[in-house]
Amino acid sequence: MSTEPAPAPDAVASPFPTDDPILSLIGDTPMIDYPGAERERVRCKLESENPTRSMKDRIAMGILTQTLADGDYDTVVEASSGNTAGAVALVANRLGVDCMLTCPESTSRSKIGYMRAFGADVHTCPDVDAGHPEHYRATAQRVAEETEGAFLVNQYYNQGNPTVHYEWTGREIWAQAGDEMTHLVSAMGTGGLLSGSGRRITEEAEAAGRDVTVVGVDAEHSNISTAFHGDDLGPYDTEVEGLGKGIELPTMWFDYIDEMRSVADDEAFRQARAAAQEHGLLIGPSAGAALSVALDISNEHPNARVVTIICDGGEQYFDTLFGV
Ligand SMILES: Cc1ncc(COP(=O)(O)O)c(C=O)c1O
Repeated sequence: MSTEPAPAPDAVASPFPTDDPILSLIGDTPMIDYPGAERERVRCKLESENPTRSMKDRIAMGILTQTLADGDYDTVVEASSGNTAGAVALVANRLGVDCMLTCPESTSRSKIGYMRAFGADVHTCPDVDAGHPEHYRATAQRVAEETEGAFLVNQYYNQGNPTVHYEWTGREIWAQAGDEMTHLVSAMGTGGLLSGSGRRITEEAEAAGRDVTVVGVDAEHSNISTAFHGDDLGPYDTEVEGLGKGIELPTMWFDYIDEMRSVADDEAFRQARAAAQEHGLLIGPSAGAALSVALDISNEHPNARVVTIICDGGEQYFDTLFGV
């Protein structure tokens, strides 16, 4: 047996080079074989290996560095109940700008923990409907307008969100699996992650004379699939953080998505639990939903080589996943 180590996949340079010891931990995440029976057919891109344990570190890094280079700002504002808030808090901390975050009162303590840990000024807002002036997104907009030197990240509308994944995440995935992958599968919220990565993979595959199917994963009662198929929008209701949306957003680049599948909340949580308990892979429920679709595809198409993105780690969901 050869003792030669396997050649490392081509490393992809970050489009946002930095000599900061913390920020340089963002990106260049590993891709591993799924540690269950389908290991030959499914691979997992571990975005949970970013410093705040999600792929949102990349968009915070990209959007903040670029906006600060282009304009005279000293404060960053964002509305987020999820991973983006912690990521923005970390990157703002390292870039030396003030950070103001708004989130709904129902935001989990661990997510607020990330925001406060890095020194952000966190405003919790009442859980009111979008459109209400005290809604967390309206509050962020107001704060950004009223604060001199402030800019709003605005991940739901900022084209920097999918573009960062086009320039960065998608390139890494192609370098790690482009020679064999047949499918790319990811959960969608703003759609930024899959739109950008999917566009990169589609273009690279075309240039190589190959075909990769880009599959978006939505919640069961959500409107990304509905909008994708051009159907009338219905209600939006899911317990899976980060999965699905009530409306179509400009960060969803449907031209680069081939197929949408919806996953019930129970299945998303079941798969995330099984990944940890049976295989030692600690992932969040939205990654559980994507993994569920990836495993289905691998069973439907025995020759498929599926890459699924693990959007975040399970550490923030110990309570909902394992009751602790
Ligand atoms: C846990 C989690 N999974 C998936 C997503 C979806 O990613 P995107 O917004 O890039 O579509 C998000 C986004 O907030 C998230 O926080």
